[in-house]
Amino acid sequence: MCGIVGAVAQREVSGILLEGLRRLEYRGYDSAGMAIIDPSGDIQNRKRVGKVQILSEELLASPLQGRVGIAHTRWATHGQPSEINAHPHLSGDIALVHNGIIENHAELRLRLEKLGYVFLSQTDTETIVHLIHHYYKDQKNMMAALKLTIADLHGAYGLALINSAEPERILCARKGSPLVIGIGIGENFIASDQLALRQVTDRFVYLEEGDIAEITPDEYTIYNSEFEQVSREITQIDTAADSADKGNYRHFMLKEIYEQPSVIRRSLAGRLGSKKILMEAMGSRAAPILEKISSVQIVACGTSYHAGMVAKYWIEGLAGVPCRVEVASEFRYRKFKVQDNTLFVTISQSGETADTLAALKLAKTLGYSASLAVCNVAQSSLVRESDLYLMTEAGPEIGVASTKAFTTQLVALLFLTVALGRHHDISEAQEEEIVSALNSLPDLLTETLALNLDIKEMANAFADKHHALFLGRGAQWPVAMEGALKLKEISYIHAESYPAGELKHGPLALVDADMPVVAVAPNDLLLEKLKSNIEEVQARGGQLFVFSDKAAGFKAAKGMNIIELPHSSDVIAPIIYTVPLQLLSYHVAILKGTDVDQPRNLAKSVTVE
Ligand code: G6P
Repeated sequence: MCGIVGAVAQREVSGILLEGLRRLEYRGYDSAGMAIIDPSGDIQNRKRVGKVQILSEELLASPLQGRVGIAHTRWATHGQPSEINAHPHLSGDIALVHNGIIENHAELRLRLEKLGYVFLSQTDTETIVHLIHHYYKDQKNMMAALKLTIADLHGAYGLALINSAEPERILCARKGSPLVIGIGIGENFIASDQLALRQVTDRFVYLEEGDIAEITPDEYTIYNSEFEQVSREITQIDTAADSADKGNYRHFMLKEIYEQPSVIRRSLAGRLGSKKILMEAMGSRAAPILEKISSVQIVACGTSYHAGMVAKYWIEGLAGVPCRVEVASEFRYRKFKVQDNTLFVTISQSGETADTLAALKLAKTLGYSASLAVCNVAQSSLVRESDLYLMTEAGPEIGVASTKAFTTQLVALLFLTVALGRHHDISEAQEEEIVSALNSLPDLLTETLALNLDIKEMANAFADKHHALFLGRGAQWPVAMEGALKLKEISYIHAESYPAGELKHGPLALVDADMPVVAVAPNDLLLEKLKSNIEEVQARGGQLFVFSDKAAGFKAAKGMNIIELPHSSDVIAPIIYTVPLQLLSYHVAILKGTDVDQPRNLAKSVTVE
């Protein structure tokens, strides 16, 4: 949610900041701004509503010069997207950018107004910059003023600030919102995601909860929440893994859909033996913990929640281990009892989703045996705060609508299922079958992607519709949920999903020629049941769009459109059937002319509650 980038250098920084914003734009894109200390020592800033490109045009017309600056791309929480509400916010000689939410902003605003501060924006952020300004007047030291300020803040923040009275430095602080320092030679940087800085460095230091830091061109100093100077590990990132580039694809989303065979191949490498999964891939601590587990609680948000729903079918159905799944925003405020020997599993692409992190924090106080994060970002807060982790290895995912992160999550969760099932209901022979199915997955996905043109053709039937229904049964129900989510996220068509058996308990009333019905119908044990549900739709003149395989025996007819997928083992079918639904939403969105990679009102990484 929102992106921060800052630079202190011995060269002009506006180009670096602008490129950083472009790379962060997937996190928020309703307005953007930049503040720089100019050669005469004054703070100059530019802000624009809309995408970073609009700010970039403004900077071309009216450039900013200077060697110290901060910039921000915003996803509005407090106050509409407007120039006034865009960051950086200013108070006297100080400029500040902020991610997160200050919960006591109303009270702080009143206090500051009494002190004579005049607020220009509706944001919670403006209270922080005035507060720093207020303390700076007495302290005459930015670090001291920042320290006093954050003691007054309730809520979450990742923030960075500059002060023209102390040029050549950026101060920053994090609590509940990620920040990373990028280390250069004679220049240093700050950002909310290392991706923003990959064009200038490959060496990063991740700030931890409660850290405050000061960066100058030559050094950086980090203090922990007790204000003790600390040193944090430097992480070197493989520059080849930089995928913040669309390549030849029209959109990141399409590129990421097509990357699925290769990222899944990569995520399997080193994890599968010829007949067994390699437990060592989960680290030496995992085996003794997992062998004692007798139930699982999964918590996640959005697409990651759907991955958890699929995993429930696997963990209960294959491993024979009871498993509950809940969205993090509900879990964190609910009362319940924790059973002995329960593993707490979080699933998150970013590892920074505020609700998921809060759920983990709560879980740690509740007596779970251990926590395990299924995550795509190795340096994320979620991974750092969990006992165990399973990385999804999808590489950076830029499209707001999650695609390759979801299918790699499923692969990791199947791996976890086997790891748990070994001590419960999965025999050696079954493990061998699952390993062989996983090995066949990349090629089957490539075959599925080859159906792209047929799916593109099918999309024409959706572009003028206002509603769509997605049906599935068993582990394909969450796949249908994910298909519906993709369609609503990027094409703005209202889409709902139902377990097909529920059709007659309500949604059947909606079925008519204007309501396309998508059925996820592989040739599995529930096929005959699903066929009856499909007939219920046909009998009411519904338009059906069925994803199935040859052996299922569906015949194309009026009102019955069929895409035939390659045949696969039941266990990996949810991963394969996800892909055509991603392509369907993509092509519908193209026909509707929506912003595929940055759909309205959404953000990639939801770091506020
Ligand atoms: C946002 C994104 C979704 C994502 C969800 C959870 O809503 O737009 O694509 O599924 O957050 O994010 P996480 O990073 O925790 O998987």
